[in-house]
Amino acid sequence: MSLLELDHVAVRYGAGRHALTAVDDVSLAVEAGTSIGIVGESGSGKSTLARAIVQLVPTASGRITLDGRDVTGARGSAVRHIRDRVQMVFQDPFASLNPRRTVGATLAEAVGLNDRRASGGGDRQARVTELLELVRLDPAARYRYPNEFSGGQIQRVAIARALAAGPRLLILDEVTSALDVSVQAAILNLLRDLRERLGLTYLCISHDLSVIGYLCQSAVVMYLGQLVEAVPCADLFSAPRHPYSRSLLDSVPQVRGERIRATASGDVPNPRFPPPGCRYHPRCAVGPLAQPGREACLQRDPHQDDGRAASLNGGPVTGPGSGAVGGRFAACHFPLGAP
Ligand SMILES: Nc1ncnc2c1ncn2[C@@H]1O[C@H](COP(=O)(O)OP(=O)(O)O)[C@@H](O)[C@H]1O
Ligand code: SF4
Ligand SMILES: [Mg+2]
Repeated sequence: MSLLELDHVAVRYGAGRHALTAVDDVSLAVEAGTSIGIVGESGSGKSTLARAIVQLVPTASGRITLDGRDVTGARGSAVRHIRDRVQMVFQDPFASLNPRRTVGATLAEAVGLNDRRASGGGDRQARVTELLELVRLDPAARYRYPNEFSGGQIQRVAIARALAAGPRLLILDEVTSALDVSVQAAILNLLRDLRERLGLTYLCISHDLSVIGYLCQSAVVMYLGQLVEAVPCADLFSAPRHPYSRSLLDSVPQVRGERIRATASGDVPNPRFPPPGCRYHPRCAVGPLAQPGREACLQRDPHQDDGRAASLNGGPVTGPGSGAVGGRFAACHFPLGAP
């Protein structure tokens, strides 16, 4: 049983003519103890998918299962079930912390909410010390207010607050994107260390491919709300199968140590009116605009063609949009490297 399973999940914003499907038919299995990256350009639906997992936005269809329990549309005790197991850390920690509370008060509150064993004040203070030490901050940091910290330090506080719940899964949404490059490395090191020490599972969202390469064993690539490739990271960097993944990798020269930002050539279409057939076809370097005769790309969405996608790619693929990363998956009629 996977720690987290998404089964054909869709999330919509708005209604009628203005409806936008931000996440479209995404299936993904996250095994305990693994780290999966979610990559894609800005607007591809990464944050929406994360918010749907923790029920910050409702799903329009599909099912979310956590530790074997269906938590789709969770209310009451099911929300508790989620918050006990899944916590999110965001790009801007200042926005998610109360500027009028000391860090110690914020952490003590998180401990009280989440750890029913830490009932007394002494217990809570001991746990606050433990949390600050876990993220390598001086325990005296508890007396300070958020605006007295640097960006990197306050991100450590946000990570400590997420850990107060004793989660099994941390969703990291662009957690280093707002930080200086030198500070990013320290936070990434800390996250890798915490994963080993606490046996955590990570779902790591980033448009910076070097972050994904550093933290994750495997990745899923999203384009206009759809999951287009699921792949071990080593293969993503050396031999991606989906032309969009290839374009993301090609967009920036890969100098050692340089940040690799996820952008592809061409303009992103209006997500309210995705192109017919394969959504990527207007930008695809090996699609029908570059190679006449590839009408299949105009006529059929590869996601609705799971039998063909599976057989083209080999491996135990479980369905369209499948992120069961053990078997590679690419939602493409003509995947790169296919015979
Ligand atoms: N609250 C919202 N209301 C309406 N549209 C939204 C909202 N949040 C995000 N979107 C739209 O949903 C799509 C996916 O956004 P998002 O999940 O933030 O993507 P990413 O995290 O990959 O940048 C985008 O087209 C974005 O404009
Ligand atoms: S299905 Fe066609 S247009 Fe879409 S990514 Fe594959 S080759 Fe390109
Ligand atoms: Mg985002």
